[in-house]
Amino acid sequence: MRAQSFLELMRFVGTTMATDADAKKRRTALAALELARREVTIGVGTGSTVNLFIDALAAQPGSVRRAISSSEATSARLRAAGLEIADLNEQSGIGLYVDGADEATPARQLIKGGGGALTREKILAAAAQRFVCILDDSKMVATLGRFPLPIEVIPMARALVGRELGARGGRPVWRKGFVTDNGNHILDVHDLEITDPVTLERELNQIAGVVAVGLFAVRPADLLLIGTADGVETR
Ligand code: 5RP
Repeated sequence: MRAQSFLELMRFVGTTMATDADAKKRRTALAALELARREVTIGVGTGSTVNLFIDALAAQPGSVRRAISSSEATSARLRAAGLEIADLNEQSGIGLYVDGADEATPARQLIKGGGGALTREKILAAAAQRFVCILDDSKMVATLGRFPLPIEVIPMARALVGRELGARGGRPVWRKGFVTDNGNHILDVHDLEITDPVTLERELNQIAGVVAVGLFAVRPADLLLIGTADGVETR
């Protein structure tokens, strides 16, 4: 095959793969919109799947009036979509919180934080009566940990937390150049064996300097909307 044709083929395969993944994400985002319509104020997470959910909100003005946002990036998109941003401190709670995930188990335990918004996402999950996670089927796993576990840390404690994680068998990698909306750093922890996510989440939360752990196991999602090639599976 000529080099030119090979490049064209690879470009076509890449586009097709991207389109497939996007189609799955779009399906789950549209399914979440059906649940969100019943709410006046919703919590909204961060990431490319959530962005498609926000696009769906924008395409149907008035379907939801107000949102509590998990990041500055999401707030900007929500405003552009015509939603009002509410302050969590002025609400008694949230009926529905919609967010993506980096990994999920059939028990609805998650790894989140690939986009670095995990702390505010945890706050919204804690405040929500119902946490609906939107994701495509490539993110379903039997055991969490293939995706490196993001941990938000106070900058001065980065090395200290890193050593503690190393002692627990993890391999922390500093997400250099990235500062969270809260002014903190992220360690992405590779090689952790997450056989008991609830216990590990509780233990890692005890390390001085840890702001939030990207394990959502103590408070898992209430519903997974899993985008597949054929439709949306619920769990
Ligand atoms: C951001 C998150 C996201 O939900 C997670 O990274 C998934 O993102 P995407 O929908 O782009 O795959 O936890 O902090």
